[in-house]
Amino acid sequence: MTREQAVQRHRELAEQIRRHDYLYYVLGQPEISDEAYDALYHELVELEKKFPELITPDSPTQRVGGQPLEEFRHVEHAVPMLSLDNTYSESELLEFVERVTRALRCPFVPMVVEPKIDGVSISCRYEKGVFVQAATRGDGRVGDDVTQNVRTIRSLPLRLLLASPPEVLEVRGEVYFPLEAFRKVNEERIRAGEPPFANPRNAAAGTLKQLDPRIVASRPLAIVFYAAGQIRGLSIRTQRQWLEFLGKAGLPRPERFWFCQNKEELLLAVRELDQLRPALPYETDGAVIKVDDWTLRERLGQTAKAPRWAIAYKYGSAKARTRLRSVTFQVGRTGTITPVAEMDPVFLGGTIVSRATLHNFDEIRRKGIRIGDYVFVQKAGEVIPEVVGVDVAARNGTEKEIVPPEQCPVCGEKLQWEGIFLRCPNLNCPAQLKRLLMHFAQRRAMDIEGLGEKLADQLVDTGLVQDVADLYTLQMRDLLRLERMGEKSARNLLEAIAKSKKQDAARLIFALGIPHVGETLAQELCRHFGNLNRLAQASLEELQAVPNVGEIVAHSLYRYFRDPKNRRRLERLKEYGVNFQCLERRLPVGPLSGKTVVITGTLSEPREEIARKIEAAGGRVASTVSRRTDWLIVGENPGSKLQEARRLGIPVMTEQELRRMLS
Ligand code: IVH
Repeated sequence: MTREQAVQRHRELAEQIRRHDYLYYVLGQPEISDEAYDALYHELVELEKKFPELITPDSPTQRVGGQPLEEFRHVEHAVPMLSLDNTYSESELLEFVERVTRALRCPFVPMVVEPKIDGVSISCRYEKGVFVQAATRGDGRVGDDVTQNVRTIRSLPLRLLLASPPEVLEVRGEVYFPLEAFRKVNEERIRAGEPPFANPRNAAAGTLKQLDPRIVASRPLAIVFYAAGQIRGLSIRTQRQWLEFLGKAGLPRPERFWFCQNKEELLLAVRELDQLRPALPYETDGAVIKVDDWTLRERLGQTAKAPRWAIAYKYGSAKARTRLRSVTFQVGRTGTITPVAEMDPVFLGGTIVSRATLHNFDEIRRKGIRIGDYVFVQKAGEVIPEVVGVDVAARNGTEKEIVPPEQCPVCGEKLQWEGIFLRCPNLNCPAQLKRLLMHFAQRRAMDIEGLGEKLADQLVDTGLVQDVADLYTLQMRDLLRLERMGEKSARNLLEAIAKSKKQDAARLIFALGIPHVGETLAQELCRHFGNLNRLAQASLEELQAVPNVGEIVAHSLYRYFRDPKNRRRLERLKEYGVNFQCLERRLPVGPLSGKTVVITGTLSEPREEIARKIEAAGGRVASTVSRRTDWLIVGENPGSKLQEARRLGIPVMTEQELRRMLS
């Protein structure tokens, strides 16, 4: 290939990939299979290997590649990033309309209603259509340069889809953690003994503050834009025009917005958005109402903090108000410190609560919570209540700041910061051991009935158990020394411990509490390696070859099994007769390992035959399309499954493509 041909092909490939990224990540309407996409991408990578001079910062291959940073550089915003005033009722909203119309001396000023996206504010700068910088809001005037991290967000175009892009374009919006992915990440974190993120916003903030862009790339952040910063070489007159322009430029924008020409329409729009909220891919805690005409906005101006031409309308949710008396610090299984609010008891959602999670210090700072404050508590998701805000008006000046502890409240070790989390690095910390014991014994792990919080506390406090392996050396006479332990319960416990030795090794792998290893992954690891010994000896490359094991998880496993203390633990467990074998039927390993495939339409062979081949390649055949489906194989006259797969964004493969994959 000549250089000229290479230049030409490079341009074609980059353009096609950009278009397919847009179709897939922004519109959610892919036109080609993942296979076909991978082929294009692979060709581009190969081409750039041969002609490295063709690599530009906006090439689709340049999303990840940055090295971990020491710290973020500061960026001064060309146009300050303001915040918004809030309203909490329709009457307050109408007061805002009054203020605007009075100031402009019009009967009504057309407005646009958009969802208020609860993410992390971001400003992205494009010069001549090429993405050059992303910055967080910071204090509104100066923010952090998070360009490397934002580059990894797949719905962000690295180059605008415009033939003649403006000289300078700063687009402002929100980085968010898609709800579906948030649930998954938190489930995994809980199973792996890590503190769950407080909410999607916190997950997005925590991810964006990572100094290592590779970690950011491994999390499915998304982005959406709604406002403008500095603009040169483009004239926009209204918000409607602006939103239309964003769409044309390939920039993600809110999927719904309302143009309102009178108060009635405005109230209807706000109510309709409230109905629609559960269906949106991000959390919305309200609506943003904006004057549509940008010239009128200038006439309205702004206060030091917020524009006078826009307002946020917050939707309410059931909360209780009570007094925060003190803050305690809980040490998790992996040593993470969680601040817990100790409050005056209050009735909330059917129960009385007196403790609530404050999640982490980033959340405390963001919400401005102090000891002595009247706070609002809300039930988070299922059970754990959380402190969501402060009744600032109720302050009397005696409130005290919440200071992060310097030492572990349990073992006294000096604590370390890891991003937004504070952690106790002492692996022998009794708090960590107690939690590990409970994790080890829980039903989904080794299933040792009778070993709950109280017993774990006693076993650790008396020194009977200094490592989980010590469980298997416990004797009747040891247990009888414990408080409230009769002969019968001691015997039952010893039996339960003995029985646990026979559990499948997948449960043992999960029970060990290796960071990042949840229940599902433990099963996959167990099946893949067949037994715990082989897993413990695996090299980094071998670990990374397991489906669903990325760089971070592989390192975590590798580090765990290289630690002499952990090796000793495994040796002892084996010595005491704990089962290390995978008892489940091993699925064959192949190109479809761990993948769930659904078939629709008529294929050239009977379905059973195709299903057998898929299973021989490690895959599983399911009958209905769901979010868990990895591929849909499409034959002739496909049924409704194809529509469903398109709706869910699940990649589609023809029979031919399947054959190519299997060969
Ligand atoms: S417009 C000049 N539109 O909410 C301010 N903001 O609480 C322009 N936000 O700082 C902001 N969704 O980070 C605007 N559709 C939307 C929004 C939105 C979320 C955020 C934004 C703002 C914060 C204020």
